[in-house]
Amino acid sequence: MAIQPIRLFGDPVLRTPAEPVTTFDKELRKLVRDLVDTMQDAPGAGLAAPQIGVGLRVFTYDVEGVVGHLINPTLDLSDEQQDGDEGCLSFPGLAFPCKRAMHAVAKGFNEHGDPVIVEGSELLARCVQHETDHLDGVLFIDKLDPGQRKLAMRAIREADWAGDPVRVKESPHNTYGRAL
Ligand code: NI
Repeated sequence: MAIQPIRLFGDPVLRTPAEPVTTFDKELRKLVRDLVDTMQDAPGAGLAAPQIGVGLRVFTYDVEGVVGHLINPTLDLSDEQQDGDEGCLSFPGLAFPCKRAMHAVAKGFNEHGDPVIVEGSELLARCVQHETDHLDGVLFIDKLDPGQRKLAMRAIREADWAGDPVRVKESPHNTYGRAL
């Protein structure tokens, strides 16, 4: 187990686009293990490498009992949409309705460099969209309707973690394992 501190909104690493992985080595496999351990400890449904301060295009997910990871993802999204609450481990305790594609096909690689496809609907589709956004420095608050975004920015200003960008292990995380 190597649980890492989760970076919170305000930490510049969350706004920095991550670099593609080019070397599929032991170091990368340790990063995947750290992401899984940190995600499950939170607990969360997904975690992207920048959230633990690593600027590489890697994320993990834990949705409906399926734990996995994806490296250098590219997405194909359905026109059909879903709407529902979405949270993020970098915004402890907050969740807001966020529209996403209903279905997603995510192509990428596993930790050994083999091509893999992660395909899903609903929460898994939401998760791969949310995590791939993290790799581009995009956060879920960017995807909210203007009214919800205003509410989110106010809640962030009032949050007890505001201005405290480097920590946090909040266990159990109070979005009950659904935050991404
Ligand atoms: Ni997130």
